Amino acid sequence: MNSIILSSLYDPCFPYAFIETMDDLFKNILDRERTRQSADSLITNFTIEMIKHLIKKETLSLNLFRPATDRWIIFHTLNISYIVCNMLIMNSFPYTFTVQGVKSAIMHDIAHILLKSTSIEDDRDEIRDNWRLHIALGYRLCTRFGLSREVCDSVLYHHERFDGMGLANLKGKRIPFYSRLINLADKAEQAIFHNEEHSESFPNSLMKMKGNVLDPDLVEDFIHTFGPFPPGTRFQWKGETYVFQGTNIKNRELLFENNSGKTYHVPLNDFLKNW
Ligand SMILES: [Fe+2]
Ligand SMILES: [Fe+2]
Repeated sequence: MNSIILSSLYDPCFPYAFIETMDDLFKNILDRERTRQSADSLITNFTIEMIKHLIKKETLSLNLFRPATDRWIIFHTLNISYIVCNMLIMNSFPYTFTVQGVKSAIMHDIAHILLKSTSIEDDRDEIRDNWRLHIALGYRLCTRFGLSREVCDSVLYHHERFDGMGLANLKGKRIPFYSRLINLADKAEQAIFHNEEHSESFPNSLMKMKGNVLDPDLVEDFIHTFGPFPPGTRFQWKGETYVFQGTNIKNRELLFENNSGKTYHVPLNDFLKNW
């Protein structure tokens, strides 16, 4: 089971049970025979479950699900929802805003299921047909389900670049906020798995996209929410190895463990100032 997350040494971002819940949700809302509950209320129910789970967390880490195999859409959607939801909670967004943001994250790539996209490359490679199609089809699904204007627009623009060089040529803060957030989460997930062998390079990969692909303010918020590294990132300092564990969100501290298992708490702001 642990082969589906980044590191078997740490808890996954969401409980494993959420994988089946997400799978069931997608099956239910795409079922044309569904009569009992509206798609909107099914999505809202799972959104609230996610918020309730994350609001209790004391330590955050980017121990994401591996967006591989034929279930990549499930794993990827959970990862993006995890990042978006935590960023909204940590920045004290009103509850209703958080709900809309997470619903946007849940819906952003759902059209890949109908398009039978076989790998996450269908969501990343702009010359693939499914890359263009999933954006428009996802938007249509959201309108058909009667989701809010914010959610529909967020899905439509979730691959726009901050510099305006994207498909719809929307630029900067004119791109809907949740779309910018989803794009950031998407690129962060990609950079985490791309730098898996050298996770200390992850923040550099993210910084290279700041201001061109990604909203620079959101990149800063991301680092201040999760810390600059995925869990398990190793550092050498004065002959000793320190391993990054995650961020204590209550005390705003980064947690490192040394060779002998002792945990060190480093204030996040102090670390980022000297970094
Ligand atoms: Fe995505
Ligand atoms: Fe996408």
